[in-house]
Amino acid sequence: MNNGQEELLLLLQKAQNEFGYLSEESVAELAKSLALPISDIYGVATFYSFLSTKPLGRNVIRICKSMPCYLKNCQIIIDTVEKEIGIKPGETTPDGKFSFQLTNCIGACDKAPAMMINSDVYDDLTPGKISEILKACK
Ligand code: FES
Repeated sequence: MNNGQEELLLLLQKAQNEFGYLSEESVAELAKSLALPISDIYGVATFYSFLSTKPLGRNVIRICKSMPCYLKNCQIIIDTVEKEIGIKPGETTPDGKFSFQLTNCIGACDKAPAMMINSDVYDDLTPGKISEILKACK
């Protein structure tokens, strides 16, 4: 990754932190200030799973789908979360409580399968733990 890409990522992350997601206006403003085509900004914004061009729920669930978690059967965790909150990866519940995404490694491979809810990491997951974790979400 070169310096320009790093700077763009930082600016996108900053805009997302400020507004909760990357709106069309944010993307257009960034494109203008960096003198880049809007399509380039969208290309980056849609490539990284930690960036979103759609509004997100109050609790963003990100389940790791990289190989160590995959080998520890993250699919059963994905299925359990789907069943508990009634949405599929890429969706947000109608009440705005949860957004559900799949992501790459979050650095908890030694205790796979793992997920994040907002900035908190949950590891050694089992279907039984999911319900308790989700109940604690506001
Ligand atoms: Fe899942 Fe690293 S592979 S946390």
